[in-house]
Amino acid sequence: MRDFEPQKMKKIPFTGIRRVMEKASKLQAEGKSVIHFEVGQPDFDTPENIKEAAKRALDEGKTSYSSNYGYVEFRKAIAEKLERMNGIQADPMTEIMVTTGGEEAVAAALLSLLEKGDEVLVPDPGYIPYVSLVKLAEGVPVAVPLSAEDNYCYHVDRLEQLVTPRTKLLILCSPGNPTGTMMSREALEDLSRFCQKHDLLVLADEAYEQIIYDGNKHISMASLPGMKERTITVQSFSKTYSMCGWRIGYVAAPAELIRIMVRAHQTIVMNACAFGQFGAMEALTGPQDSLHKMLQEFDRRRQLLYQGLVDLGIPCNRPQAAFYLFPDISEFGMDSFAFAEYLLDNYGVATVPGVEFGANGENHLRISYATSYEDCAEGLRRIGQCVADLRARK
Ligand SMILES: Cc1ncc(COP(=O)(O)O)c(C=O)c1O
Repeated sequence: MRDFEPQKMKKIPFTGIRRVMEKASKLQAEGKSVIHFEVGQPDFDTPENIKEAAKRALDEGKTSYSSNYGYVEFRKAIAEKLERMNGIQADPMTEIMVTTGGEEAVAAALLSLLEKGDEVLVPDPGYIPYVSLVKLAEGVPVAVPLSAEDNYCYHVDRLEQLVTPRTKLLILCSPGNPTGTMMSREALEDLSRFCQKHDLLVLADEAYEQIIYDGNKHISMASLPGMKERTITVQSFSKTYSMCGWRIGYVAAPAELIRIMVRAHQTIVMNACAFGQFGAMEALTGPQDSLHKMLQEFDRRRQLLYQGLVDLGIPCNRPQAAFYLFPDISEFGMDSFAFAEYLLDNYGVATVPGVEFGANGENHLRISYATSYEDCAEGLRRIGQCVADLRARK
């Protein structure tokens, strides 16, 4: 038999998060206690009013294909939300497309807008699928090293060294996964000038736009002067409303870009889940108290873990958003895979090795606090024990 795997798929690995999860499950099956700091989804159920709206939609027969762009009434609700909360004016008829989660929006954009050899500036560390999707689209991912000193945000000086005439698009992920940090207005303004100067498209992945603490404010790139015409804004219901399994997200972009992206979207999925769109519409238009409660609880855990790591003397940027911390473990002289494995095997704490998010994430771990406060406290205690044991061995 010939090898049916094309070269482009050989470049796309299985994610290491899967490896960690499988190992954690195996340890648990053997009766060991495991604290789950590896999970990237809220540990809350979808709010009742949202579930009820989807059930009603099912009862009302919203079970067929919808428009490729999504139901018009839902797109109108999205347009209203984008204007009210993000300062983005998008025509619901031509500038919004409902997608199968934010992920499919990112995929539809990259697969349809990139030409073979187009270069894409990608954050490193950054959300894992960006690089794989650029490769799948036969583009060239160009890793932009982000540093703790810059709060893991793009710095224009560094971007200037990496941009070439082949650069077509920049991926912006603020608030950021895996770092939990976010770009300031000033940094975004600098970035917007850079993108206009080099005539780049921006894919602004705003999956965590509402999971923000300390009164910080998320600024959407598309709301800055001169940026709407070159920005593809991706948003999602997964994190904000604990709807990861629903697979509903959306993209807002200039009509001419949506016209390109919708052809990838219609070819791959046709439309997002019909009745799910009605649940998501309720999420946007109904009461927001579940979101506020979730944020309060995340905030408690964030403070516990951040302060705990600082007290242990482990360098870590103060997380401002999302539900991740990204501590620096270089002191211990193990690479991030070795450290994560050691921590899981010996202390029962599952985390994600930082190198999973790009070479520049090496020497870090991603810790997610999408697990109970009690588990956060216990996980912190175990990390403390691990660190004390390793330091005693030196
Ligand atoms: C930065 C980022 N973008 C997009 C996604 C995909 O989210 P969705 O569930 O909406 O596809 C995730 C999920 O973890 C994410 O972290």
